[in-house]
Amino acid sequence: MLIFAIETSCDDTAAAVVKNGNTLVSSVISSQIEIHKKFSGVVPELASRAHIDNINPVVGAALKKAGITFGEFPKKISAIAYTRGPGLAGSLLVGQVAAQTLSAVTGVPAVDIDHVEGHMYACLLEYHELRPPYLALTVSGGHTELTIVDDFGRYRYLGGTRDDAAGEAFDKVAKLLGLPYPGGPWIDKLARRGNSGKVRFTRPLMKGTWDFSFSGIKTAVVNEVRKNKSLLVRDVCASFQEAVVETIVIKTMDAAREFGLSKIVVGGGVAANSRLRRQLADTALRDKRKVYLPPEWLCTDNAAMIACVGYHKLKKLKKIIDPFCNIEPGLVLKNWGAR
Ligand code: KG4
Ligand code: ZN
Repeated sequence: MLIFAIETSCDDTAAAVVKNGNTLVSSVISSQIEIHKKFSGVVPELASRAHIDNINPVVGAALKKAGITFGEFPKKISAIAYTRGPGLAGSLLVGQVAAQTLSAVTGVPAVDIDHVEGHMYACLLEYHELRPPYLALTVSGGHTELTIVDDFGRYRYLGGTRDDAAGEAFDKVAKLLGLPYPGGPWIDKLARRGNSGKVRFTRPLMKGTWDFSFSGIKTAVVNEVRKNKSLLVRDVCASFQEAVVETIVIKTMDAAREFGLSKIVVGGGVAANSRLRRQLADTALRDKRKVYLPPEWLCTDNAAMIACVGYHKLKKLKKIIDPFCNIEPGLVLKNWGAR
């Protein structure tokens, strides 16, 4: 079964074809970093304009790579999955209109997907045998969430960030240190040569909840940099990264223990962080749990992960509930079948 997917929730225009929910046939991602980096963040209006320019070439390139024409859609493609939310309204609209137009023209059903769900399923493309139940850790530019995936489409949300998402904190601290956007990969790179014990930032464990809060560490970095002018950028990067990583690892492992989950599945841009990957893998090994980490290209936004969710949703629900539903920028993760 082939699923065609479109993802445009933020600043990447992406399209992909995936077979049976886990085998990549084609994937094309057009990044807008060059447009947004001079503003040190994503400018929503510029993002939606760029999606308009990119959507047709990206869709065309993904189909060409897969060797599929529009005329072959009814015969070869089972569903057109697209991101309904959460994300930027103008960006989401471009993907929704493209997917639903393609659906209306070809007769292939459109299926709406939650972007965070995409990150929670991305590992299935790498580990074909992976199945729920598992603990999903989503760490991206917009989200830091712990969710139990009891089954495909059945979730128990444990907690999330109360202020900055992990990636947002990385990007803001990088900006403060004069590093380019997006700052996460730069902090990761510089931290490798830095001393993570140079400054001991508090670990915000938010005891008694599964929530996160990273804005305090960010403010502590600002104060420390102002106070101590001789601090090396690489030491600040390493100390900040260590505080964020340790907090995420402690809370994730605590949740896995508390709910008796042996599998931890990580997703989102910050899952590409080398220190987080190492610490999660080492801690899980000591704890006799297995951690699943996507390859770098599947950590950040892509359409293959959306296709993957689309496959399981179609298989489980049998029919599409509302093929022409609207985008939802503030979408909250729901069990399949619930509206
Ligand atoms: O998942 P993603 O592409 O977009 C959202 O859904 O938000 O994540 C982008 C975020 C950015 O904040 C970026 O700085 C961060 O992921 N990121 C990293 C690394 N690579 C990307 N953060 C820390 N270390 C990295 N290596
Ligand atoms: Zn994302």
